[in-house]
Amino acid sequence: MRMVDLIEKKRDGGELSTEEINFIIDGYTKGDIPDYQMSAWAMAVFFQNMTQRERADLTMAMVNSGDTIDLSAIEGVKVDKHSTGGVGDTTTLVLAPLVAALDIPVAKMSGRGLGHTGGTIDKLEAIEGFHVEIDREEFVRLVNQDKIAVIGQTGNLTPADKKLYALRDVTGTVNSIPLIASSIMSKKIAAGSDAIVLDVKTGAGAFMKTVDDAKELAHAMVSIGNNVGRKTMAVISDMSQPLGFAIGNALEVKEAIDTLQGKGPKDLEELCLALGRQMVFLANKASSLEEAEEKLKEVIQNGKALEKFKEFIKNQGGNPDVVDHPENLPQAKYQIEVPAKEDGVVAEIVADEIGTAAMWLGAGRATKESEIDLAVGLMLNKKIGDSVKKGESLVTIHANRENVDDVIGKIYENIRISDHAEAPTLVYGIITE
Ligand code: URA
Ligand code: CA
Repeated sequence: MRMVDLIEKKRDGGELSTEEINFIIDGYTKGDIPDYQMSAWAMAVFFQNMTQRERADLTMAMVNSGDTIDLSAIEGVKVDKHSTGGVGDTTTLVLAPLVAALDIPVAKMSGRGLGHTGGTIDKLEAIEGFHVEIDREEFVRLVNQDKIAVIGQTGNLTPADKKLYALRDVTGTVNSIPLIASSIMSKKIAAGSDAIVLDVKTGAGAFMKTVDDAKELAHAMVSIGNNVGRKTMAVISDMSQPLGFAIGNALEVKEAIDTLQGKGPKDLEELCLALGRQMVFLANKASSLEEAEEKLKEVIQNGKALEKFKEFIKNQGGNPDVVDHPENLPQAKYQIEVPAKEDGVVAEIVADEIGTAAMWLGAGRATKESEIDLAVGLMLNKKIGDSVKKGESLVTIHANRENVDDVIGKIYENIRISDHAEAPTLVYGIITE
């Protein structure tokens, strides 16, 4: 087989066989196929697309390029949740204990990563003593015993994706549905869960700016998952404005605690229920999505979800008292209000720009080397559709530096007040096909 023939075949709209796709991914991972041929191939895919079968084969070829996690020692149906990324997305912190409280095993491998705020691990590390450096046996033991544990990324998962994603980044081939879908799904499948729930975001703060694009990506991922034997569902959700009120690590832990007590922000709660009910359904703990949602509400109301969060913190070395005393989480030195300059209704809160403002405070990493300040971030006091009076606070800045003029400027530029506006739709669709 020659790579040049496969590039030409795809360039001319042909369908690649399983063997051909394996040859490409294998050869590229080993370094036998050079970057210039791989980028020509990625560009051919960009223009010619891939069939469902090709997408599933590409995904599995990337899964098989490295280590895979074997969770078979954990009893029950392991359901993982993945979000395509947003601003102030606190759902994982809420969902993990929430579904674990229904005896669904949550065996989560998480990362730190770059972005507006830290990853799930950074957020959890805002809790004194909490750590994810546990060995694989302890991880499995904890999930079997208490249904929940989080471990840091280990092993060499999907090296083909790592290499291809970096190449796509510099060759104008990131924005291709078959390539994005197989990239994301390969990582989820290598991480070992039996079923996958996807939260595909749309809007200013998201990768997919329109609902149609988000739906197309969701369909692509759901069909890959189902084609390779992992039950998969997706929710299309709004990321035009940040989710919930909190954007920042300790602030989001506090927000998660509130939500587990049934007093969190409405949008965060609604999204957690939308994703959670799919997780419960796929784990075979309910016979319909409606029944699944009832069960989730029950463990919020009877306190079991909150208890599960405490147990989880304790198991991983943290001090569970923060759940009852969130004031013991890291606190920033300064709290600065950003008052509205006029009366009206909040019409726009540009998610990614507001996220960047939080990052400037130190809530997230701009580069791999940056250090996170777990205490800092933003609390939105208003969301789209809320009316506001001149002088009322739009946002509270939690900072460890006195001068935050840069952040205040960015906030004013990205929160628009108008005569009228309505809260955006939060859930645009459910993809179960
Ligand atoms: N996120 C990924 O992991 N892969 C892509 O291709 C795009 C976004
Ligand atoms: Ca939030």
